[in-house]
Amino acid sequence: MKTAVLLSALAALASATPTVKEPPSKRSDLTAVTVSGNAFWQGDTRFYLRGIDYQPGGAANNTDPLADTTVCKRDIAKFKDLGINVIRVYAVDNSADHDECMSALNDAGIYLVLDVNNPSYSINRAEPGPSYNTVYLQSVFATVEMFAQYKNTLAFFSGNEVINDEEDTDKSAPYVKAVTRDMKNYMNSRSLRAVPVGYSAADVSSNRKQTADYMNCGSDDVRSDFFAFNDYSWCNSDFETSGWDAKVKNFTDYGLPIFLSEYGCIKSRPRKFGEFGALMSTKMSGVYSGGLLYEYSIEENDYGIVSIGSDKKVTTISEYNLFKTALANDAAPTGDGGAASTTHSQDCPTSAATWQVNASLVPEMPSAAQKYMTAGAGDGPGLDGDGSQDKADSGTASASVTAGSASPTGSSDDSDNAASTLGPMNLAPLCVTGAAIFFTLFGALLL
Ligand SMILES: *[C@@H]1O[C@H](CO)[C@@H](O)[C@H](O)[C@H]1NC(C)=O
Ligand SMILES: *[C@@H]1O[C@H](CO)[C@@H](O)[C@H](O)[C@H]1NC(C)=O
Ligand SMILES: *[C@@H]1O[C@H](CO)[C@@H](O)[C@H](O)[C@H]1NC(C)=O
Repeated sequence: MKTAVLLSALAALASATPTVKEPPSKRSDLTAVTVSGNAFWQGDTRFYLRGIDYQPGGAANNTDPLADTTVCKRDIAKFKDLGINVIRVYAVDNSADHDECMSALNDAGIYLVLDVNNPSYSINRAEPGPSYNTVYLQSVFATVEMFAQYKNTLAFFSGNEVINDEEDTDKSAPYVKAVTRDMKNYMNSRSLRAVPVGYSAADVSSNRKQTADYMNCGSDDVRSDFFAFNDYSWCNSDFETSGWDAKVKNFTDYGLPIFLSEYGCIKSRPRKFGEFGALMSTKMSGVYSGGLLYEYSIEENDYGIVSIGSDKKVTTISEYNLFKTALANDAAPTGDGGAASTTHSQDCPTSAATWQVNASLVPEMPSAAQKYMTAGAGDGPGLDGDGSQDKADSGTASASVTAGSASPTGSSDDSDNAASTLGPMNLAPLCVTGAAIFFTLFGALLL
């Protein structure tokens, strides 16, 4: 990336006219979105996510649509036609150049919400301790370094559906919190723009509130900047039938911005996207900041609104026009939309059947990763590198597994992203080892 930036700087020197390849710092960009109170702001204007999840090829494909200018420009034309202002991308190749696609998004007024993990470089739900390691963090930091420079990077997801409703997945929560903390520290110590960092939770009601409270509890350095969750409960119904009224009530006074990282139940079709109207109404806007429709392209799980043919041409289906109509008809509320003016934390959740996390114990960053905080992460490994999950740091800050318990390699679930790749209704089977996990380090006491 540094080379790319340098080359574009040289190119800019060589020609008097500004080009798309100018370094991001020199371009006239969209205003960076910031967090204040429980809302996002674009300068003095409240910012709502009116966006879509973008994963052409499906998650199993694991390609980066923003590294291919033909692909991104083809689809940005559709994004403009729809009238969206945000896309979410689930994995990027941090060894590739993104200047051109990010510029094209910028020119279209579109922001990016980015997952910093990918199947090879992610926290393993079944055995989170060893997968929270220096090799993993180098990849995360390389992605953060690359994308924090773009003003239209709206937010980073430090984790996606790592915690679900299956036994023991709450044990991975401290690692998500640790990664959130490390990313914030990294941006701070590298003097990068402080892109908001948060977690995207699975559509699981049994521990949603605990997960949300946990991500927003403790000292400021380990708290998220926002919370997001996936929700597939609307299904062409209404505010009460879907239970969204309760989801407003439950999250009132949460203290941070909240948005839906995926929505768009397909039990009843065609979808009429009444949930978008609800999100944009003052019934919700005091608590929620919009959301992202799942999803752009039709993949195996059939949620998309366009199909991409073998000739790579895009064809829209009727729901494309229905979503476009919803975007046109349902303007965001004016003014502050009822947002709270102060940001605040929550109490850490107490122990419950579905939540057995000691909030005082957040794993300490592996000491070998400390060097990145000053020197930078360097070149990213991309999506096809050797992967990080079996690269545990020896004798350092990772959690250990008690001797005699199930084999640390005995899991069939290889990553958090592997879970989300199967689509919202299909959480990957989690092969819980039953191993008792204890923390070898007691860094970052929260309370
Ligand atoms: C991934 O998606 C791209 C773009 O749609 C396609 O060209 C490629 O063949 C796909 N790869 C796999 C392994 O499905
Ligand atoms: C709201 O919170 C209550 C109490 O924690 C919980 O039982 C209920 O499931 C929540 N409802 C929703 C829709 O999240
Ligand atoms: C949580 O961990 C801390 C530090 O080890 C310990 O002092 C405390 O008793 C634990 N809390 C619970 C509820 O187990």
